[in-house]
Amino acid sequence: MERVSKIIANSGYCSRRKAEEYIKEGKVEVNGKKINVGDKASKDDNIKVNGTYLNKEEKEYILLYKPRGVVSTTNDDKGRKTVLDLINTDNRLYPVGRLDYDTTGIILLTNDGNLANLLMHPKSEIDKMYIVKVKGIVPPVILKKLCNGVIIDGVKTSKAKARVKRYDKKSDTSIVELTIHEGKNHQVKNMFKALNYNVLKLKRETYSFLDLSGLKSGEYRHLTPKEVKKLYNEVNKSSTSK
Ligand code: URA
Repeated sequence: MERVSKIIANSGYCSRRKAEEYIKEGKVEVNGKKINVGDKASKDDNIKVNGTYLNKEEKEYILLYKPRGVVSTTNDDKGRKTVLDLINTDNRLYPVGRLDYDTTGIILLTNDGNLANLLMHPKSEIDKMYIVKVKGIVPPVILKKLCNGVIIDGVKTSKAKARVKRYDKKSDTSIVELTIHEGKNHQVKNMFKALNYNVLKLKRETYSFLDLSGLKSGEYRHLTPKEVKKLYNEVNKSSTSK
């Protein structure tokens, strides 16, 4: 059983606060009866908001290898291609977090608002590993700074893991593997910028225990029920241990 306002918000119909307003205004019914804020229901109950039943759509979980030149929002005011344009589904899916237009790599999409919110919650501390191509040499002192936290807009980033994978003398570029669990806007680019490095290329290789194995850029696959369960375990582990 869950609060009806939460079920409504997770369905993507509106925010939780708005759902509470609708409940107060008597615009929400559960199995034909008006309810009060704080009342609970199960996913099998019939919930009606403003005269329409909430969709009891099947939960869908997708792992996409996002190519460059695609936005990771559900629509774009500049009319650019979105991650949803790459997926064939009748469900209303949402990306879990964001990757920049020019960033490639792993991104999850789902209509399970509950899991998406838990994964994106800072408390969950989901590890994400990025492969970063930067101009110049990245010496140990810089790696140490990346690991211990750099200041962005007056706030220090959390502990991270960083190592240089290789340096190419000819092009004077380094490939750095950086693992962070925070997900602030442009975080990786801003971390390097704060240390006077310009990110030339950025790819997210892993998201928690998931990676891009078997996928080419632009391809996607559904998560297995086992993987979904494991993601739920990851977020539940964080909420009980931290
Ligand atoms: N950090 C960035 O700077 N960009 C991304 O797309 C993801 C993480």
